[in-house]
Amino acid sequence: MVNEAELVKQAVEARRMAYAPYSGFSVGAALLAKDGRIFTGCNVENASYGLTVCAERVALFKAVSEGAKEFVALAVACGEGPCSPCGACRQVLYEFAPHLLVIMADGSGKNWRTARLSELLPHSFGPRTL
Ligand code: THU
Repeated sequence: MVNEAELVKQAVEARRMAYAPYSGFSVGAALLAKDGRIFTGCNVENASYGLTVCAERVALFKAVSEGAKEFVALAVACGEGPCSPCGACRQVLYEFAPHLLVIMADGSGKNWRTARLSELLPHSFGPRTL
C-alpha cells in the first residue's frame, strides 16, 4: 500500500524549493521508486521561458540518474485545487511507469485525488509502440 499522505507531504516540502520567478507558480513532486526510495523535484524556470522544467520531470530525471527505473507512485502539489501533471510530464513518466499511481494534491497538501497514469494518458505512445 502506498502511503499517499507521506508522499504528498514530501511533494509539498519540495514545492518550497521551486524556482518560479516568471510564472510565480510553484510546483513540488515526490516520486516513489519500487525499491522504496523517494525522489523529489520542483519546477525550475529560466529567463528563456521554454527551457523551464516541470517538478515531475526533475524528480524523474533525478531518480533515473541515480539508478531507479521502476516507479510505484508520484505525488504532485501545486495551486489551490488538485494539481494535474502536464501532458509532457505524463509522456515522460509513461516511458518508465505506465501504471503509475498519480496523486494530485493542492499546494497545502490537505486535499488530493488519485488516478492511474494510463487513465491520464489514454491511447499512449510508449516503448512498446516502437
Ligand atoms: N509546471 C510543473 O512544474 N508541472 C506541471 O505539471 C505543470 C506546470 C510548472 C512549469 C512552470 O514553471 C509553472 O508550473 C507554470 O506553468
